[in-house]
Amino acid sequence: MSRNKVTVVGAGNVGATTAQRIAEAGLADVVLVDIVEGLPQGKGLDLAEAAPVVGHDARISGTNDYADTAGSDIVVVTSGLARQPGMSRDDLLAKNAGIVRSVVKQAVAVSPDCILIVVTNPLDAMCHVAYDAAGLPRERVLGMAGVLDSARFRTFIAWELGVSVEDTHAFVLGGHGDTMVPLPRYSTVAGVPLTDLLPADRIQALVERTANGGAEVVALLKTGSAYYAPAASTFEMVDAILRDRKRVLPCAVRLEGEFGTEGLFVGVPVVLGRAGLERVFEIELTAAEREAFERSTASVRELVDKLAAMPV
Ligand SMILES: NC(=O)c1ccc[n+]([C@@H]2O[C@H](COP(=O)([O-])OP(=O)(O)OC[C@H]3O[C@@H](n4cnc5c(N)ncnc54)[C@H](O)[C@@H]3O)[C@@H](O)[C@H]2O)c1
Repeated sequence: MSRNKVTVVGAGNVGATTAQRIAEAGLADVVLVDIVEGLPQGKGLDLAEAAPVVGHDARISGTNDYADTAGSDIVVVTSGLARQPGMSRDDLLAKNAGIVRSVVKQAVAVSPDCILIVVTNPLDAMCHVAYDAAGLPRERVLGMAGVLDSARFRTFIAWELGVSVEDTHAFVLGGHGDTMVPLPRYSTVAGVPLTDLLPADRIQALVERTANGGAEVVALLKTGSAYYAPAASTFEMVDAILRDRKRVLPCAVRLEGEFGTEGLFVGVPVVLGRAGLERVFEIELTAAEREAFERSTASVRELVDKLAAMPV
């Protein structure tokens, strides 16, 4: 039986770290792609030379040519620019949309059966770009954000209560980052709702820290943004799909009526298995939760409308 094949587009911090996790878990052969000549080849070679020490047989290589990515089971898209001084959010939106559109077209042309996992920001808007460029069914276009947002929330809950991160579960909905909607009544420690364990003001503080989680890391690093937790979160989605685990994970998916939303990529809990999105895990929301979810979807819709008005 041949090993699965995963292509990671973008050999930067998130891409290379994701490639490392996948290869070192022996989960799949990995091809790293980047527009910069030598970068994916150099990182691929370096990672391959770690294999004898780590003890895995996955093949890992780097390339600038999509022909080498042909037949991939999963394509992870991390290529993009970070916001630079003087660049507006809209400039970044247009630039990254161009990059995501181009890499998705090239990757899907040689891997028509792949499942796409989009990581590039602004996440929910880039999922739309990828979906339109790929022409794949919605089951095979997923965005990574909720796993990361809930990992951050779980970390802060565990620290606050002095318990293992393993026993904390967090439930988040909505767009990525500051429009995320954490649901404390569905977030639990060993099955006990967070709302029974902490006063509302402490929960609110943890929620705010989670929503600003990306910015907190950027402020410390000064150059670049978070990548260890984003790569670990992307790996968890790849693992759930390739091993057909039916994990219930929060992912950005194109809603088609679920949660009262039509034709929009937003983060919701889904069942992830070998087919990609296998089921949207729909839950009842209270009036306040629905209002927060609708605020979040409105901000995703605003970006998508801006994209639609931009020249391609
Ligand atoms: N969804 C999330 O939760 C999440 C979390 C962290 C980072 N991100 C996003 O992921 C992206 C990558 O972050 P990073 O820290 O790895 O950035 P990075 O700058 O380290 O890497 C980006 C890579 O993309 C490459 N690239 C640019 N244009 C390309 C093209 N046309 N084809 C192929 N490669 C191209 C660059 O050369 C670079 O190596 C950013 O958009 C970032 O905002 C998202």
